[in-house]
Amino acid sequence: MVVEGFCSPVLFIILVVLLRCGHFSYLKPKKVALMSYKPMFFGMFMNQFKARGFPFWLHDIPGIVFRSDNEPFKFQMQKFVSMIVNMMKSEGLYASQGGPIILSQIENEYQNVEGAFHEKGPPYVKWAASMATSLNTGVPWIMCKQDDAPDPLINTCNGLRCGETFVGPNRPYKPALWTENWVSLYQVFGGEPYKRSAQDIAFHVAVFIAKMNGSFVNYYMYHGGTNFGRFASAYVITSYYDEAPLDEYGLIRQPKWGHLKDLHAAVKQSSEALLSGKPTSFSLGQAQQAYVFQANSEICAAFLMNNDSRQASVEFQNVKYELPGKSISILPDCRNVVFNTATVKVQVGVRSSRVVLHLNDVQNWGAFSDGVSDITDASFTQQSLLEQLNVTKDETDYLWYITSYNFASDDDKLVLWVNSTAHVLHAFVNDEFVGSQHGSHKSPGVTFEKPISLKNGENDISLLSVMVGSPDSGAYLEHRVLGLRQVKIRGNKSVRDLSNQVWGYKIGLQGENTEIYTKEGSEKVEWKSIDTFAHQRLIWYKTTFDAPSGKDPVAVNLGSMGKGEVWINGENIGRYWISFQTPNGHPSQTLYHIPRSFLKPSGNLLVLFEEEVGNPTEITLETISVANV
Ligand SMILES: *[C@@H]1O[C@H](CO)[C@@H](O)[C@H](O)[C@H]1NC(C)=O
Ligand SMILES: *[C@@H]1O[C@H](CO)[C@@H](O)[C@H](O)[C@H]1NC(C)=O
Ligand SMILES: *[C@@H]1O[C@H](CO)[C@@H](O)[C@H](O)[C@H]1NC(C)=O
Ligand SMILES: *[C@@H]1O[C@H](CO)[C@@H](O)[C@H](O)[C@H]1NC(C)=O
Ligand SMILES: *[C@@H]1O[C@H](CO)[C@@H](O)[C@H](O)[C@H]1NC(C)=O
Repeated sequence: MVVEGFCSPVLFIILVVLLRCGHFSYLKPKKVALMSYKPMFFGMFMNQFKARGFPFWLHDIPGIVFRSDNEPFKFQMQKFVSMIVNMMKSEGLYASQGGPIILSQIENEYQNVEGAFHEKGPPYVKWAASMATSLNTGVPWIMCKQDDAPDPLINTCNGLRCGETFVGPNRPYKPALWTENWVSLYQVFGGEPYKRSAQDIAFHVAVFIAKMNGSFVNYYMYHGGTNFGRFASAYVITSYYDEAPLDEYGLIRQPKWGHLKDLHAAVKQSSEALLSGKPTSFSLGQAQQAYVFQANSEICAAFLMNNDSRQASVEFQNVKYELPGKSISILPDCRNVVFNTATVKVQVGVRSSRVVLHLNDVQNWGAFSDGVSDITDASFTQQSLLEQLNVTKDETDYLWYITSYNFASDDDKLVLWVNSTAHVLHAFVNDEFVGSQHGSHKSPGVTFEKPISLKNGENDISLLSVMVGSPDSGAYLEHRVLGLRQVKIRGNKSVRDLSNQVWGYKIGLQGENTEIYTKEGSEKVEWKSIDTFAHQRLIWYKTTFDAPSGKDPVAVNLGSMGKGEVWINGENIGRYWISFQTPNGHPSQTLYHIPRSFLKPSGNLLVLFEEEVGNPTEITLETISVANV
């Protein structure tokens, strides 16, 4: 194993293959997106290439149990991993071939779910390790958050403070690696962004190097990105790790980017001592510690830590140093401080968005009602409530559950009660909207309860169940049960359970089925003026616009809308959800990134599907830029 190679000053890329289940669930085979790809720094700081989750068809393989000692799963996993490794080999990308890949990852934070698989867990870990090893990449394999990673695999740490939390490598000959240093956390609809300061990140990187003998830190994410289409997992917004040093749009986020760059330079200046020096450490005070890497009288680097929130004066090798609260000073020559983690010297850049186009020309908008489905629209019927993904095959977020209810009673005070493990429910009785309900990232399901009125005779009960992304983690993903579980009508005399009566199913929206969001599809329907459907639900809107000039990244501001999906020139740029506000009373995300590559100079087609009620004429196009102050 090439352990010494870890710290060599080469530019490298970690290929985080498989099976990253975090925040991404089922893969759409058509589009594999690069969340982030940006090599950086001298043998310690990297970025990653991120593969996303499982293709949905795996769910339908008989007898499959994901991520366990299960033959059908292991067969597919081995096939996939071998294919990826062979692609890398044929391009000469491994360091052993002179390429940039120095590490590969197999599995992801498996220890979190291992217990749930009982006796099928540990043999799977061993199998995954030996399967990966047998592929002979010539570079080490790692398992993150797997304390018992079998030799020769290296167990690694993911987290916010790996210098304090990591149990350490499980063998003395393995290096200490931090594979996910969370610069932020993913944001969900209804949630605020997680802002982690540049000082805090820098402090913990320095702790990891100084205290843990850490030889590798990988930022998660170094470069944010966008979850286009239906890629985002349950309740996750389209903007992903926008708080990263390079934001969602690829713009530099200051002071994070610059402060970490300065940190990397200081570590690089200390590299000889770090690589060849003997690490020692001693106390400089109650909460102050020196970490020294000394090879000889010439080669010496020191990290002086103040773990107290107040400033502290310390003496190190007969020299006095002032250490700001919660900080580490780096002395590449054991004398001169070249960097302190709490002292930010870079310019602060302020990002702003500028409205460049108001899409307020009513004449240029068209509207089309998807309509409420009744039992005659059903493509099949079944005498039970079916599991949603089993029916939709994850081709759409939308599934109609429709039944006809024969009411003959003087019962009143009627209430429609629905229990669902899917995310959003829109309920209609006899084509009239009766209410909506949604869950949240923490509590994904829905319990719906709204008064209704029924006529004597047949009544159409039309329930639109909506997913906002697939589950992203946990054991037995293939066994999740989503969609409506129980439907009841309660009166003040009796309760009638409709769950086992005949239900009709309609998969997806009419507009999805005609691909109304493409140029060809949009020409197949008759668009009306937008006031035709004022205050109505389930409406498609379309307009056209010219691309903003210049090169700044472009976003569409959907702050005047409710919830739905948005397409530009047939490309799905994601799910939007403005009406789900944070506890502070504002939407989690109003700007939705439109890559310039999706745009042509003029006549770009913008199509939205609005589940609730919105005002498209207040939509604006904005450009994003950063100004130094
Ligand atoms: C760091 O390395 C030194 C010298 O090999 C060793 O004494 C120390 O225990 C190591 N620290 C950790 C946290 O592994
Ligand atoms: C700093 O102090 C806190 C609180 O006492 C402790 O939990 C943490 O491990 C310390 N950090 C380091 C790097 O020593
Ligand atoms: C999904 O459909 C298959 C085939 O119809 C069925 O065997 C299975 O039980 C269904 N799964 C769920 C969770 O309903
Ligand atoms: C709703 O359905 C879930 C799943 O079937 C069940 O666990 C839960 O108890 C139900 N809630 C109520 C209030 O019936
Ligand atoms: C049901 O509600 C009606 C109207 O409010 C009332 O007259 C009747 O007594 C109620 N019946 C029962 C069983 O509570």
